[in-house]
Amino acid sequence: MIIAIDGPAAAGKGTLARRLAAHLDFAYLDSGLLYRAVAARALGEGVSLDDDQALEALAEALRPADLERPDLRAPAVSEAASRVAALTPVRQALVDFQRSFADSPPGGKGGAVLDGRDIGTVICPYAICKLYITATREVRAKRRWLELRERDPAAIYDRVFNDLVVRDERDETRKDAPLKPAADAVIIDTSALTADAVFAQALAIVEAARPG
Ligand code: DC
Repeated sequence: MIIAIDGPAAAGKGTLARRLAAHLDFAYLDSGLLYRAVAARALGEGVSLDDDQALEALAEALRPADLERPDLRAPAVSEAASRVAALTPVRQALVDFQRSFADSPPGGKGGAVLDGRDIGTVICPYAICKLYITATREVRAKRRWLELRERDPAAIYDRVFNDLVVRDERDETRKDAPLKPAADAVIIDTSALTADAVFAQALAIVEAARPG
């Protein structure tokens, strides 16, 4: 069973996806980490974010250890990841990894939860359960700011808000696999919901979609 969870940054999809995977004993893939890892390697190795071919090569050569880098959530990596994610060759290079994770979940698990921007629309359009998790920009920026502030007390809300707007715009308007809900996705707006309430709603949807 594949559960596809898409939505914009800081809408709560990671928290939900992790919790669903733990509850169901399914494998979990945060697909944003793949784009972040390509971006982090590009920044670290001085690869230009306009060099499609070099970035494609980095995406093809991604190793599991790249997904464990401690800098993947840094603001510079977030910004670079959103640029890298707009490039078709990079997206193509990452499709097979995501599909084989979904189709043959590691550890012999009975299912997989994948979260991202295009899981329900492009990577796994055949997923049996699709959720689109969203929230207002203000709520999402505040959540991201509070998260960042734990690591960097000088984090500025307005900057976080503006970065989020730029990245939303890039994710929503890119040619290839733009962020949008799949036609058969259930949309959950988490703006006024606790994480527990979101989990309860999502679990009810998953249980209803679960075969026999
Ligand atoms: O979910 P995130 O913030 O970690 O994602 C990092 C970037 O990668 C973000 O700009 C969106 C992009 N992304 C994507 O285009 N497709 C995905 N399936 C996951 C992330």
